[in-house]
Amino acid sequence: MKVLVACEFSGIVRNAFLAKGHEAISCDLLDSESKGPHYKGDVRDILYKDWDLLIAHPPCTHLAVSGARWFKDKQKEQLKALDFVKLLLDAPIYMIALENPISIISSKIRKPDQIIQPWQFGHGETKATCLWLKNLPLLKPTNIVDGRENKVHKMPPSKDRWKKRSITYQGVAEAMADQWG
Ligand SMILES: C[S@@+](CC[C@H](N)C(=O)[O-])C[C@H]1O[C@@H](n2cnc3c(N)ncnc32)[C@H](O)[C@@H]1O
Repeated sequence: MKVLVACEFSGIVRNAFLAKGHEAISCDLLDSESKGPHYKGDVRDILYKDWDLLIAHPPCTHLAVSGARWFKDKQKEQLKALDFVKLLLDAPIYMIALENPISIISSKIRKPDQIIQPWQFGHGETKATCLWLKNLPLLKPTNIVDGRENKVHKMPPSKDRWKKRSITYQGVAEAMADQWG
């Protein structure tokens, strides 16, 4: 299967699909932080190639409900961010999964098909993650564990805090490759 993992610098989802024998490539404006096929640049450059599956992690900076108090100051940015989400959801690719936290995508585009938590996939943490799916089954929990800590929320300020907060959980990436690959 030909898999495009859009807006991924970590390579975690890409590598999970590669490990299952798929042809997978990540794409981000940033370099990849792990070895593997990666296109550094705008996903729009390669979106219209011949993919079977798109997994997209578009930026949530202007969309996440956790930033609601800033919404009135960033309406232009929000519209741009929503347009980007629409473009990804409307891509001519048979299977699509788009991931974001609880965000205004739900009210402005459509409700997510599913909300998952890291503790359903082997990580004893909470971080509600919404999935918008096209031609894909709901992701089934693989390993429900104890622990309901919000580690992401408690991370101390740092230059790369946003990066650490946004990296996909390994257990979720493996579930995607197992169940959607
Ligand atoms: C929330 S992060 C997702 C991180 C991802 N979960 C991972 O594990 O690497 C969003 C990413 O989208 C990238 N991005 C933003 N606009 C993009 C574009 N037009 N094309 C490709 N990547 C883009 C950003 O550079 C950022 O790394």
